[in-house]
Amino acid sequence: MHEQIIEQRAAALAAIASAESLDELEQVRIRYTGKKGELTRLLRALGNVPPEHRPELGRLVNRARDEVEAALAGRREALKARALEQKLREETLDVTLPGWGPLPGRRHPLTLVLDEIQRIFTGLGFEVVEGPEIETDYYNFEALNIPKDHPARDMQDTFFITDDIVLRTQTSPVQIRVMQERRPPVRVIAPGKVFRVDADVTHSPMFHQVEGLYVDRGVTMGDLKGTLSTMARELFGKRPVRFRPSYFPFTEPSAEMDISCIICNGDGCRVCGYEGWLEILGAGMVHPQVLQNGGFDPEEVSGFAFGMGVERIAMLKYGIDDIRLFFDNDIRFLRQF
Ligand code: FA5
Ligand code: MG
Repeated sequence: MHEQIIEQRAAALAAIASAESLDELEQVRIRYTGKKGELTRLLRALGNVPPEHRPELGRLVNRARDEVEAALAGRREALKARALEQKLREETLDVTLPGWGPLPGRRHPLTLVLDEIQRIFTGLGFEVVEGPEIETDYYNFEALNIPKDHPARDMQDTFFITDDIVLRTQTSPVQIRVMQERRPPVRVIAPGKVFRVDADVTHSPMFHQVEGLYVDRGVTMGDLKGTLSTMARELFGKRPVRFRPSYFPFTEPSAEMDISCIICNGDGCRVCGYEGWLEILGAGMVHPQVLQNGGFDPEEVSGFAFGMGVERIAMLKYGIDDIRLFFDNDIRFLRQF
């Protein structure tokens, strides 16, 4: 027994000295001083030795255990210090590496197009005005010659807030608000958000329109065509446009302006519904009843109005084939402008 104690003590101290990690050291502890460890086993075996040898052997085994425990504690501290030092070394910063440059923001493609439309029309003598996005049924429909049971309400599937209050489906109510506040000549554009129950690759439930209104003595359909053709040429350069007869309750006659599809060059694709043309605006001569609702005398003045879809124009201008890209906020998309 005496020899065993000496042997195990020496083996334990050697194992401790050569342990290279805290995990390894823990294994050594379990092996020698754990519940079933070698030295613990020898301590228990004392019960079986003759009583006259017990005190001496007891002292020997206890001393061996104390020494082993002290060595374990010492080695543990040394290994911890080494681990910390290594961690600090690995985490040092190389201050000579180049830093991150600032990531510049970009203007949203819709903002770019809106700014350009405003630049074109202010250049033609139009003033920029705004109206509310939450509108009464009266301004959004009634005053524009669209009574409650009029089938034209089907053209614009509406978000109602109450029976009489809607999210405006078009910027046309601003026409009425402006006429009620001013005397002719009136020459304004009204950009803003509009809302419809509508969603596919070219329709979004929230989108932007720019309304235009010009009322004065002797305004004709020729002025309308000239103004809108000038705008199209400024926006798209020399590209075919066409005016198509159309219907709006608040203009007479009415037209829609199409531009030849830039995505497919007029051949037909999913964006233009395989037509080769994309509708970008509705327009017409302001209906006499609407002039009257605005407080103007249709015997004295006439005017034209138009409303264009800003997303449609941005899609054409930049060759974007899905309207939803404008509202996904995907930075890879937005960075391209
Ligand atoms: C109107 O909204 C009329 N207020 C335009 C108008 C104004 C006519 C003044 C006469 C006088 P329309 O519903 O066609 O018309 O919409 C006008 C334009 O908005 C369309 O040409 C199209 O470019 C765009 N547009 C319509 N619905 C959506 C939609 N859901 N998403 C994106 N753009 C749309
Ligand atoms: Mg339309």
